[in-house]
Amino acid sequence: MKTLKIALAWLIAGFAIIQLIRIDVPPPPKATPDEEIQAPAKIQTMLKRSCYDCHSNHTNWPWYSKIAPVSWEVRSHVKDGRNWLNFSIWKRYDEKKKKKLYEGIAKSIDWKMPPSDYLWIHKDARLTRAQREEIKKWAEKEAAKLP
Ligand code: HEC
Repeated sequence: MKTLKIALAWLIAGFAIIQLIRIDVPPPPKATPDEEIQAPAKIQTMLKRSCYDCHSNHTNWPWYSKIAPVSWEVRSHVKDGRNWLNFSIWKRYDEKKKKKLYEGIAKSIDWKMPPSDYLWIHKDARLTRAQREEIKKWAEKEAAKLP
């Protein structure tokens, strides 16, 4: 019984200590609403629901995203996600970058994005096969329009 109590005390102390380790997400670049990506309403809705937590300035931070060790995973996802692709500053990207990103979306939407650990918690962000296909078609079409 005593060992159990000591083990538990260490566990709680450890949990308290890791709360001090934080990954900082730099504040997102200031953006005006007209810099947001423009897409057909249906696509826009899907992007907002399934991608915006990591790829926009409009991140929803759930309560558990503030608690280590979950916070490390969530915050690094948002940090890297925004760095790669931020739909809130889309209009600032040049044509070359846009084309690359459209192609990246068409490629990653098959299985890589949204990440599976995210979908595991965010069931509402799941996309059906047909929805993925729709996003893919849209991204391919937009990529083809660019030089
Ligand atoms: C939980 C956070 C998260 C969500 C939600 C998310 N992404 Fe990502 N995404 C990332 C991270 C982190 C990266 C950085 C590079 C990597 O991990 O591959 C990334 C990279 C990318 C890239 C560039 C890398 C490549 O392979 O070309 C594209 C394109 C992309 N995401 C598209 C999307 C789309 C489209 C959605 C929604 C359907 C989405 N992502 C949802 C976290 C996320």
